[in-house]
Amino acid sequence: MIGFIGAGSIGGAVITGLVKNGFDANQIIVKGGRSNRTQLLDDQLGFKMVKRVKQLEDTEVIFIAVGANALDSVLTELKEIAAGKLIVAFTGNASVSHLKQALGEVKVAHAIPNTPVKVGAGFTGITYSSDFTDDDKKKIASIMGYTGQLVEVPEAQLGILGTVAGCSPAFLDVFIEALSDAGVKHGLNRKLAYDAAIGMAIGAAKLAKQSELNVSALKDEVTSPGGSTIRGVAALEEYGFRNAVIKAVDAAEG
Ligand SMILES: NC(=O)c1ccc[n+]([C@@H]2O[C@H](COP(=O)([O-])OP(=O)(O)OC[C@H]3O[C@@H](n4cnc5c(N)ncnc54)[C@H](OP(=O)(O)O)[C@@H]3O)[C@@H](O)[C@H]2O)c1
Repeated sequence: MIGFIGAGSIGGAVITGLVKNGFDANQIIVKGGRSNRTQLLDDQLGFKMVKRVKQLEDTEVIFIAVGANALDSVLTELKEIAAGKLIVAFTGNASVSHLKQALGEVKVAHAIPNTPVKVGAGFTGITYSSDFTDDDKKKIASIMGYTGQLVEVPEAQLGILGTVAGCSPAFLDVFIEALSDAGVKHGLNRKLAYDAAIGMAIGAAKLAKQSELNVSALKDEVTSPGGSTIRGVAALEEYGFRNAVIKAVDAAEG
């Protein structure tokens, strides 16, 4: 059995990704907040809902998906039942040392999923406390594997990895919207423009992942001398596209 505390944007996305990709909903217990968000999700997915953290006692792994403001009160409640469990917190400021300090001798991890976990295509960075064994890591990987990729990184890199993989779905959404606007400006209807832009993003990402060439070489392959694509690439550079992306990451990092 696995447990969740909090089922908002990211908790709900991970639970949805798990269930939609074959993880048994009967093996999931969720302690939600005060709103009806968890109930609405439960209506779709059919996991077990509970009212108290204590009722997660029979779980082996607990994911914490509450915001920073609720973290410490959740950890205080969790301490009573945490012994022997693996605790994974998605909360932004839940450092491994903070979790250890609050929970004592319990194996803890800090993970930053992104929203594509919802469709099994997520990218989650994770840092484990030093007492995690290889078998413990395999257990977490076997669960998170239903939601996409899981990559272990040193905690110092978790924040920037979370920005590059976690804030960027919104950046890509802006790019897709802009590309579709351009299509409409040049005569496509809106639906076709969105279908083309989204289909392109999925296909180009798949090609970049599967190809032996890096993305720079893939770009070189489709830019013929004096052709339309290189003129478009030059315009992107002229208007600071590359720098805008780097500045967006700088801004997100704060
Ligand atoms: N969104 C992302 O893409 C993302 C990605 C990685 C990490 N994170 C981090 O994950 C954390 C949560 O983000 P979010 O976007 O999912 O926030 P969110 O949508 O506000 O969800 C938080 C959920 O926690 C619930 N909650 C609050 N106190 C609780 C308690 N005592 N017991 C059980 N549930 C409780 C809330 O319930 P109510 O609905 O009743 O308020 C809410 O549904 C943040 O620290 C964020 O930085 C987010």
